[in-house]
Amino acid sequence: MDQKQDYANIILTQLESIETLNSLEIAKSLSINHQDLVGCLLQLESANYIKTEGQKQDQLILTNEGNTILNSQSGEYEIYQKIPQEGISMLDLQKLFCIEQVQKVKQEQGEKKEKQIDDPKKKQFDLGFGNAKKMGYIKMDKGLISKVANDLPDKIKLELSQLNTIKLGSQQAKLLIERKLAMISTIKYFEIKKGIKYANKFREQYAALTTEQLLNGEWKECDYKSINLNAEGEKISMGNLHPLLKVRKQFSQILIGLGFEEMPTNQFVESSFWNFDALFQPQKHPARDAHDTFFCSDPELSEEVDPNLRDKVKSMHQTGGVGSIGYQYEWSNEEARKNILRTHTTAVSSKMLYRIAQLYKEKGYFPKKYFSIDKVFRNETLDATHLAEFHQIEGIVIDKNASLGQLMGIIREFFRQIGINKLWFKPTYNPYTEPSMEIYGYHPVLKKKVEIGNSGVFRPEMLAPLGIPEDVNVIAWGLGLERPTMIYYDIRDIRTMVGPEVKVETVRQNAFCVFESK
Ligand code: PHE
Repeated sequence: MDQKQDYANIILTQLESIETLNSLEIAKSLSINHQDLVGCLLQLESANYIKTEGQKQDQLILTNEGNTILNSQSGEYEIYQKIPQEGISMLDLQKLFCIEQVQKVKQEQGEKKEKQIDDPKKKQFDLGFGNAKKMGYIKMDKGLISKVANDLPDKIKLELSQLNTIKLGSQQAKLLIERKLAMISTIKYFEIKKGIKYANKFREQYAALTTEQLLNGEWKECDYKSINLNAEGEKISMGNLHPLLKVRKQFSQILIGLGFEEMPTNQFVESSFWNFDALFQPQKHPARDAHDTFFCSDPELSEEVDPNLRDKVKSMHQTGGVGSIGYQYEWSNEEARKNILRTHTTAVSSKMLYRIAQLYKEKGYFPKKYFSIDKVFRNETLDATHLAEFHQIEGIVIDKNASLGQLMGIIREFFRQIGINKLWFKPTYNPYTEPSMEIYGYHPVLKKKVEIGNSGVFRPEMLAPLGIPEDVNVIAWGLGLERPTMIYYDIRDIRTMVGPEVKVETVRQNAFCVFESK
C-alpha cells in the first residue's frame, strides 16, 4: 500500500470517533506538508469516503529576518554576549561591532559640518542596544556598560522557535510583527467529515472494469472510480493553415464562384520565352536583367518550343504584324531559351493561351475564364515589405465579347467580395496589355488609396503569334497575395509572416476567414 493510502486510512480511522477533523492538524500530527495531504483528501472525497469544506485561517509565520535570527541569534543577544565581565565603554563596544565614529563630511555647499555617517551597521547596533537594555540584558552605569546577569537565554530566538504557541492577538505577537520578525499569513485548510460512502478502511478504486474482473466475478467486490463526464478532453494539437494559405483559399473560392477555373501553376522554373517573349516583352527590357530576375545555371537553357510558334514570336518582335511594326531588333533564340524562376503568373497565362489556341483548331472557339494563384520570384532587396519570392493572383477572360468595361466590372466584383468597394483605375504601361490600368482601392483600415493590382487587355502582338483568333479578346488582371494578407492580419513586417521568424502560436490564433463582402 502506498503512503497516500496509509494517510487515507489514518484519516478514516480518526473519523470513526471524531466528527470533524482539521487538515492542518492532521498534517502536523503526521509531520507532513499540508499540500501533500490535499491530494489524498481529493482522492477520498471523489470516492465519497469523506466530505470536505474549505476553510481559511490566519497564522503567524516568520519573516526572512525572523528566520535569520532563528538560525543564528538576535541582535540584542549578540550585544549582550560581547560585553566582557568587567564591563565596557560605549566607544569600545561599538568598535567591537566595527562601527565608524563621527566623521567630518564635506557638504555640497562647501561648508564643513559634523555629520554622523548614515551607517546601517550603526542603526542596527542602536536598535539592538536599546532592546538589550529594555529586555534587561544589560545596564549602563556612569558610562560603563555591563551584563545584568550571566547566562541569560536568547529570549527572541526562543520565542521565534515556538511561534506556533503564540496567540495571534497577543502582545507578544504584536511585538514580533512590529519588529518585522513575524507576520500574519492566511492559510487554507479543510474541515473533514464522513462522506456518504464512508468506511473506516480505504479500498482501491479501479479506473476501469476489465474483462478479467467480469470473468472471475471480482467486479462484485470492486470499487470503481466515478467517471467525470464534465471533464474537458485533452486538447488536440492540429496543423494550422498559414495566413497566406487562408487568404489564398478565400481568393480561389471567390474566383471559382465567379466561374473561373484554376490553371496548373506547378512550375517555378520557366523559360524566358513564356515569361517574357511570348508576352511581347522586348529582350532588352530592364525586367530581363539579372538584377530583377533569377536566372538558372543548370540547365541554363530550356528545350526548344514549337519552331512554328517560335518563328511567329520572333517575327512579331523583329518586324511586327497585326498593324504593329514590332520592336525592330534582332531577336535571339538563345535569350528566349534562358531558364529563369518565373517573375509573374502571366507566364502561366501565356502558356495556357497557346494551349487554348491549339484546342480552337480542333474544336472551334469557346469562351473561357481562368485564374492562377502561386509563387513568383524576383531578385529584390529584402525589407519589411519585400521578399525575393511572393505570390500572385491572376485572372484571364478569353471571350469574343470581352471589353475594357467587362474587365472593370469583373475587377469591381472581385474586390467587392474581399470588402473593397471603392476602386480607381489609372492608365499605365505593360508590354503585353493595351490599354493597361493600375488598380487602386480605398483601404478601409489604412483609410487611404493604395495600389492593389494591375490589369489590361492583352495586345494583338501577344495573342496573334500564340494563335488566338483576331476576333477573340483576352482581358486580364493580377495582384499580389502578401499585401492583402499582411493588411488583414495586421502583419507589419513580411519577415514575420514568411520564414524562420514566423510564430506558430500567431498562425494558430489567426482567424480563418478574413474577407467579408458588403
Ligand atoms: N503581370 C503583371 C504584374 O506582374 C500583372 C498583370 C497581369 C497585368 C495581367 C496585366 C494583366 O504586375
